[in-house]
Amino acid sequence: MSAASSPMIFCALDTPDLAQAKAWAETIGPVTGALKVGMEFVNAYGPHGIETVQNAAPDAELFIDLKYHDIPNTVAGAVRAVCQRFAPAYLNVHAAGGIEMMQAAKDACTPQTKLLAVTILTSLNQEAIRTVGYEHPLTEQVTRMAKLTQDSGLDGVVCSALEIEPIRALCGNDFDLMVPGIRPAGSQSQDQKRVMTPEEALGKGATHLVIGRPITGAADPAQAAQDILESIRKDAAA
Ligand code: C5P
Repeated sequence: MSAASSPMIFCALDTPDLAQAKAWAETIGPVTGALKVGMEFVNAYGPHGIETVQNAAPDAELFIDLKYHDIPNTVAGAVRAVCQRFAPAYLNVHAAGGIEMMQAAKDACTPQTKLLAVTILTSLNQEAIRTVGYEHPLTEQVTRMAKLTQDSGLDGVVCSALEIEPIRALCGNDFDLMVPGIRPAGSQSQDQKRVMTPEEALGKGATHLVIGRPITGAADPAQAAQDILESIRKDAAA
């Protein structure tokens, strides 16, 4: 089964084992057409780890999820280096870095790379954001930061499923919403607190889904990815 022309599911290759990441990339990459590597993996294996994944799944799009947050010049340098070496489909920064940082990061992106921002980490609740000085209600803070991201010229945000509708309402349709915390009906939520099915999240306006363990933890990861895609297709056709 070939990947969709515009991949919707970025499979999170969350493992401290390079051989495992390579095996997943080889089997899952051709099905989803898109993979995500994050901080743990990249800090363990560096550029070699990213190259290993890209070589194992040469046709899959890659989201390098490193959430840059530093002064504009430094973030721009990091983005430039990553784009030149890996040409990922997606990279991300923290919106809390501000407009100047986000614009510098966007200017440093090459055309094939879309830049997303993280607004408020989904691990933070209302009380936690108050302690770092954000006084607005959580959802308002998230939507303000999404708008700031859009005004800075970025392509979208990473957001929780519960934030899709308010962000879509404020930022319109021409804005990518990459949504983790996705669980197919009947699967375990694990440590994710607020989960949504792929069909629900796409129905609310997500453009891309990040799905890790429901795929990588399955006995047959490629089949699990295939089943999720099939169920999305059925839902869309219904
Ligand atoms: O295995 P699971 O589907 O929960 O993996 C979700 C992926 O999305 C992980 O790589 C996790 O770090 C990432 N993520 C998340 N929640 C966020 C941002 C990223 O789960 N708010």
